[in-house]
Amino acid sequence: MGRGVMLIAVLCLWAGTLASVRGEDPYLFFTWNLTYGTISPLGVPQQVILINNEFPGPNINSTSNNNIVINVFNNLDEPFLFTWSGIQQRKNSWEDGVLGTNCPILPGTNKTYRFQVKDQIGSYIYYPTTGFHRAAGGFGGLRVNSRLLIPVPYADPEDDYTVIINDWYTKSHTTLRQFLDSGRSIGRPDGVLINGKNAKGDGSDQPLFTMKPGKTYKYRICNAGLKSTLNFRIQGHLMKLVEMEGSHVIQNEYESLDVHIGQCFSVLVTADKEPKDYYMVASTRFIKTVLTGKGIIRYENGKGPASPELPAAPVGWAWSLNQFRSFRWNLTASAARPNPQGSYHYGSINITRTLKLVNSAHRVGGKLRYAINGVSHVDAPTPLKLAEYFQVADKVFKYDVMEDSIPDNQGNSNAEIVMQANVKNLTFRNFVEIIFENHEKSMQSWHLDGYSFFAVAVEPGRWNPEKRKNYNLLDAVSRTTVQVFPKSWAAIMLTFDNAGMWNIRSEMWERAYLGQQMYVSVLSPERSLRDEYNLPDNALLCGLVKDLPKPPSYSFGG
Ligand SMILES: *[C@@H]1O[C@H](CO)[C@@H](O)[C@H](O)[C@H]1NC(C)=O
Ligand SMILES: *[C@@H]1O[C@H](CO)[C@@H](O)[C@H](O)[C@H]1NC(C)=O
Ligand SMILES: *[C@@H]1O[C@H](CO)[C@@H](O)[C@H](O)[C@H]1NC(C)=O
Ligand SMILES: *[C@@H]1O[C@H](CO)[C@@H](O)[C@H](O)[C@H]1NC(C)=O
Ligand SMILES: *[C@@H]1O[C@H](CO)[C@@H](O)[C@H](O)[C@H]1NC(C)=O
Ligand SMILES: *[C@@H]1O[C@H](CO)[C@@H](O)[C@H](O)[C@H]1NC(C)=O
Repeated sequence: MGRGVMLIAVLCLWAGTLASVRGEDPYLFFTWNLTYGTISPLGVPQQVILINNEFPGPNINSTSNNNIVINVFNNLDEPFLFTWSGIQQRKNSWEDGVLGTNCPILPGTNKTYRFQVKDQIGSYIYYPTTGFHRAAGGFGGLRVNSRLLIPVPYADPEDDYTVIINDWYTKSHTTLRQFLDSGRSIGRPDGVLINGKNAKGDGSDQPLFTMKPGKTYKYRICNAGLKSTLNFRIQGHLMKLVEMEGSHVIQNEYESLDVHIGQCFSVLVTADKEPKDYYMVASTRFIKTVLTGKGIIRYENGKGPASPELPAAPVGWAWSLNQFRSFRWNLTASAARPNPQGSYHYGSINITRTLKLVNSAHRVGGKLRYAINGVSHVDAPTPLKLAEYFQVADKVFKYDVMEDSIPDNQGNSNAEIVMQANVKNLTFRNFVEIIFENHEKSMQSWHLDGYSFFAVAVEPGRWNPEKRKNYNLLDAVSRTTVQVFPKSWAAIMLTFDNAGMWNIRSEMWERAYLGQQMYVSVLSPERSLRDEYNLPDNALLCGLVKDLPKPPSYSFGG
């Protein structure tokens, strides 16, 4: 063999190895069929959204680095999108499933979501973002397990259970949406569900979960509801908290946990009590009439029903605030860091920009609207990200309609608001502090797509720069959703190093629907594939960009 031929052979071998290494991340394929169905979770027959005939939807069980491919067939009569809440979608806001980045899946058509879950071990949820569909279901659990070689800071549990808790209305999502469209609130929920059910307590209930005496189980508890913080507890059993929204935490034991809208916790529970049935309980917090949902956990070969006496919930929100303060990141847990760019030492990075976002409620022409810093977001017919990518943004929206902060005397319900697409232009790789200030009497819960952030403080009162002295700059938990108590504030910090267009939204779903959400545009100046993927070939196009030629691809280099 001549030298040249050998070199080529070696090169081919090398290229082949490279390809197979790249190809090694396994794929998980799903086909989901969305339909309406009728069920009676609170005893009243009502229309719900089913995924492959399931309510809640199926669990996605994945492992870090898996590629997930979900072909969604929309057999509903309305446009639809899913978001994969908390999945970071590195370089890939194309699959985030919100109306600012994606065209909806029209009735009778399908769309294939393709995304990779990276090193963000933990418990997440997916849910619909369109047309108030979340009130009808279409949500479910999404786990990212640790790859085999990466140690997890606790022993393998006997089994791993997903617990979706949510407040629930017996009215259909179309009725609730009509309320909102006509300017009214959806009012109080009618009950609380645990995995789509509420145990009757008359001896007829089937257990949701079974435990073998002496064994330890992992429960992943997520609040997929519309507006109610839920306190979660299990009769007679302590819960050892191990993870929240992708971070291993200091393993404290809790009698109960306040799970705010959109949040997920993983806990370990050991079946070390008298072998019989026990209730798990989820009850509403911070509202006068407490609604309670329950479900049965059964000990294998156990004898006897669950006691009808339910454990009491805590009272007031000071308790909840203290619970937040007890959450600490486990700095020695050797799992991959959620933010690979070194913002792990977030406490020593200088802040380059501060956004102070004040939420407020308004009447516009007599109709209810919600705003952030005086701007109430309205979705554009062309998704903002697509307009930006096809370089027609100027025809669709204006950047920076909203100020970084507003004077203290604004942000009340009497102030004027504007109704427009709300897009903030952020500088790629800036380290930013965001303050969420809540002047209202109601709970807030904020979620940011595309990132996890350090939740460094949640405090009563108003924020000012002096308050930075109280930040946890050492071991705040890196997560994706943070609650803000009434007349309080929360501070988060993060590096905006994930190029894309990302949604910041109130998880209080009628607020998000009526304008309390916004987008941050994080553009890599180089238009480089190193920083952001190209628009996928199968992306749905709509609005102004429907028939436009594709702009030049991003490339490596730049
Ligand atoms: C999806 O559901 C529709 C309506 O029930 C049904 O007609 C169709 O066959 C289903 N498709 C698949 C792939 O299951
Ligand atoms: C989830 O996936 C992991 C890793 O492949 C597997 O060990 C486990 O049995 C799966 N769990 C369920 C409930 O399918
Ligand atoms: C719709 O589903 C078919 C398979 O049934 C698939 O070939 C096609 O790519 C899907 N369309 C989109 C836009 O994902
Ligand atoms: C933190 O993680 C380490 C390493 O996995 C583990 O040994 C330790 O128990 C954890 N610490 C706490 C307080 O949970
Ligand atoms: C952060 O700011 C301080 C004070 O302005 C400055 O002395 C320091 O060099 C900065 N640190 C970095 C890493 O830029
Ligand atoms: C966004 O901000 C960058 C600086 O980070 C600036 O160069 C760019 O012109 C801004 N874009 C718009 C549309 O304002």
